[in-house]
Amino acid sequence: MSSPTERSLVLLKPDAVRRGLLGEILGRFERKGLVVEAMELRTMDAALADQHYADHVDKAFYPPLKDFMTSGPLVAVVLSGDEVIEVVRAMIGSTDGRKAAAGTIRGDFALSNRENLVHASDSPESANRELALWFPKL
Ligand code: CMP
Repeated sequence: MSSPTERSLVLLKPDAVRRGLLGEILGRFERKGLVVEAMELRTMDAALADQHYADHVDKAFYPPLKDFMTSGPLVAVVLSGDEVIEVVRAMIGSTDGRKAAAGTIRGDFALSNRENLVHASDSPESANRELALWFPKL
């Protein structure tokens, strides 16, 4: 019996919307063979930011991160596919766009460790938590 297909919660952050990079980023995921199961243009409010980034709320970088993430609409996406969590993390690259490898989304389009275009779940546990937060009916 095969196991159910894995899911990841991906956010195309406000900088991706402002810079007109939604098609570029989503296209990469689609061409890889990942499936868009749900998608919503939505503005994160302060409460959702605190819940989504619960592990980071006490860090020094959190206040400006929160300002950025609530600064305009983002696109929340549920992606599915074989080992999607690891596959998407590899495709987006390391957190700091200045250091992310060329060929990754952040490596090709970001120059910041805050405005880094994409968030993606980093483990099955965080995917479950984030999916329940963003798409409770799924
Ligand atoms: P993300 O994958 O959404 O997870 C946490 C976010 O915090 C990260 O992407 C960046 O946007 C931001 N972040 C992480 N580290 C730093 C840092 N040192 N300075 C500023 N922002 C950071």
